[in-house]
Amino acid sequence: MPLGVFDSGIGGLTVVRALRAAFPQRDILYVGDTARVPYGNKSAETVQTYSREIADFLEQKGAERIVAACNTASALAVESLAKTHHLPIHGMIESGVAAALAAGEGPVGVIGTSATIASGAYQKALMRARPGTKVVAQATPLLVPLVEEGWLDGEVTEKVVRQYLELLIRERIRVLVLACTHYPLLKGVLGKVLGPGVKLVDSSEACAEALKASEIRRKEKGELKIFLTDEPGPFLGRVESFLGKGAVASIERIHLPHG
Ligand code: DGL
Repeated sequence: MPLGVFDSGIGGLTVVRALRAAFPQRDILYVGDTARVPYGNKSAETVQTYSREIADFLEQKGAERIVAACNTASALAVESLAKTHHLPIHGMIESGVAAALAAGEGPVGVIGTSATIASGAYQKALMRARPGTKVVAQATPLLVPLVEEGWLDGEVTEKVVRQYLELLIRERIRVLVLACTHYPLLKGVLGKVLGPGVKLVDSSEACAEALKASEIRRKEKGELKIFLTDEPGPFLGRVESFLGKGAVASIERIHLPHG
């Protein structure tokens, strides 16, 4: 069954590349919302509406799971999509955070669109995963148009990058999360400005790696789906903790006779 992938535009194809490398046999349905790009300067409500429309479309097309390749949609809409859609929805944040923390100790830098950084989603997830982590987040809105124009290096791009990263360099970050679909294309200039002491975490690769792990787990261990004909009451919580974290894939209220 196909993987559904979406982004505000074309940039999400960086994620598709990583997914194709990880799952060569998988069909992928990709939606690029090129009519409404960019998402990075829009409100949470708008990004949620757009994302829901795309997820509906992908679901109707038979997607088995959905990857929100767009970091802005991941930050603003994945949580609400997970409530409105039954198929698994993967965002970029969890895997990016795990990869950043696995990359080593020390302050973590995050760059993304204005909406992604303002949402605080990466900052909160990093703090949750490793309390006490120093996070230096910076919105870098000019980088998307530079990439779209093909200005991947050169004097102007380097100057813009240097200015954006000033604070992160001063705070001595050891890891930088590239929290935007477009930034993997700027790895060269980012690496040049930051120097070899800072590891770059490509959120597209981190996402593909995380999905790989979840697929293997899925094959080794079947999912437990629970259907209940009445309200479960407090007992359910206790049984869930007995089964172990994450053992229950879903709990659904049904009516019998069914249909
Ligand atoms: N795809 C967006 C992201 O990853 C960047 C482009 C936009 O602002 O829509 O955040």
